[in-house]
Amino acid sequence: MNDPASLTVIGHRGARGHAPENTLLALDTGIRLGAHWLEFDVQLADGELWLMHDLSVDRTTGGRGLLTEMDCAEIRALRTGGQDVPTLRDALDLIENRAGVNIELKTWNGCAQAVAGVLREYLADGWPVERFCVSSFHHPELWEFHALLPDVPIGALICGVPLDWAGPAIELGASVLSISSEFVDEKLIADAHERGLKLHVYTVNEPDEMRRLMSLGVDGIFTDYPDRALSLL
Ligand code: G3P
Ligand code: MG
Repeated sequence: MNDPASLTVIGHRGARGHAPENTLLALDTGIRLGAHWLEFDVQLADGELWLMHDLSVDRTTGGRGLLTEMDCAEIRALRTGGQDVPTLRDALDLIENRAGVNIELKTWNGCAQAVAGVLREYLADGWPVERFCVSSFHHPELWEFHALLPDVPIGALICGVPLDWAGPAIELGASVLSISSEFVDEKLIADAHERGLKLHVYTVNEPDEMRRLMSLGVDGIFTDYPDRALSLL
């Protein structure tokens, strides 16, 4: 078991339990609650990077259709729980140095290259690489990002236990392996740690489940309620 005080609390889609997901309000709420890191999803559409989880805008906005088929003006007209759909730059400018930034690549249409382009600017402005983690379920896209900006830490997302345990994260050169909570396995945690990886778990909202995972020795928890996880430390 790790020291509970060393647990990394990652606000999921900002702080989705308290504000509309992937909005500046959700990010600001996550910061106010004390999340150590903030996770959000990005998609490339009309040459710009937007914070949105689903490929379709239907669930979270009043609009209809695929985000990647919209132009910037159409996306700027959308509202998510009364909030604008932010760009990656909007999010970074809001967060500044107040939390770590976990950017999840959600599209495979040049998203890695576009994110690398934006992060290169912020790194040139003096942001430390350690402030970022770029993650994805799409490992080839993550591989492409890693080739473009090898110093920025990456996180391999998986939804299930691979045959070679933490192997996919090692193959990618990732520093974090993140797995869905239903698949957490003690042997996977041990293998990740033996290979020098952090093991994070998504998306955990119930305090009992947080306690169970902490006792198993996970290093980080993605949660819609960062306040709940922080109260256990
Ligand atoms: O990055 C952890 C988690 O956000 C991955 O799942 O579907 O919420 O993006 P999802
Ligand atoms: Mg995500």
